[in-house]
Amino acid sequence: MLKKLWKALKIERLMKSKLLKTIMETERLTLREFDDSDSIHMYQLNADPDVIRYTGDPAFVSVEEAEAFLKNYEDYRKNGFGRWAVILKATGEFLGFCGLKFNELELVDLGFRFSKKHWNQGYATESARACLEYGFRKLDLEEIIGRAAKENTASIRVLEKLGMRYWKDAPCKGIPNSAYYRIGKGDFFKT
Ligand SMILES: CC(C)(COP(=O)(O)OP(=O)(O)OC[C@H]1O[C@@H](n2cnc3c(N)ncnc32)[C@H](O)[C@@H]1OP(=O)(O)O)[C@@H](O)C(=O)NCCC(=O)NCCS
Repeated sequence: MLKKLWKALKIERLMKSKLLKTIMETERLTLREFDDSDSIHMYQLNADPDVIRYTGDPAFVSVEEAEAFLKNYEDYRKNGFGRWAVILKATGEFLGFCGLKFNELELVDLGFRFSKKHWNQGYATESARACLEYGFRKLDLEEIIGRAAKENTASIRVLEKLGMRYWKDAPCKGIPNSAYYRIGKGDFFKT
């Protein structure tokens, strides 16, 4: 009986870890693939006008729309990477997302977004640094870019803390005044 229960538990855990695929861990954070169960979190994240102010994204109109977005999110299958859910290890809380994206310029960009109550605790820097390392080590990328509206000074600060260098001003996702940053593999491992 106990043996059966143990086996069932192991299978359940295995299925869960398969469903919620962990990509990497940092000291405080787990980065994992998005799951359907994140729809409520994504809805709540984008429902805060301060969070989406500089992102060029609208809020989801409903949890169902967020669910549809996650169901149709194809980056993992198409490119083998994407934006990942960031979970606080200590509590299991969904903080936001961070990750890499093969974008419309055919470049790989770094992106991050966190709920306001979690800002200024170093989570963007910690998760983004892990994503850069993943991009250069595991994916063997040569360069990763970062883009932010020029007014988004917190985001630009994070890009600079990661050792990214200013590249140019150009439009991005409907934001005419975006600052482009970039970092090459060699420079990342020097910092
Ligand atoms: C940008 C964002 C991801 C940063 O996340 P975070 O976890 O707070 O970032 P960190 O704590 O790692 O670092 C933030 C840095 O910016 C600084 N900062 C915070 N607000 C700032 C502001 N208004 N102006 C300048 N710097 C600011 C912090 O002091 C810190 O720098 P420090 O370590 O030198 O003190 C977060 O603010 C966010 O989710 N914003 C909304 C979504 C968004 O704009 N995403 C980026 C789109 S390009």
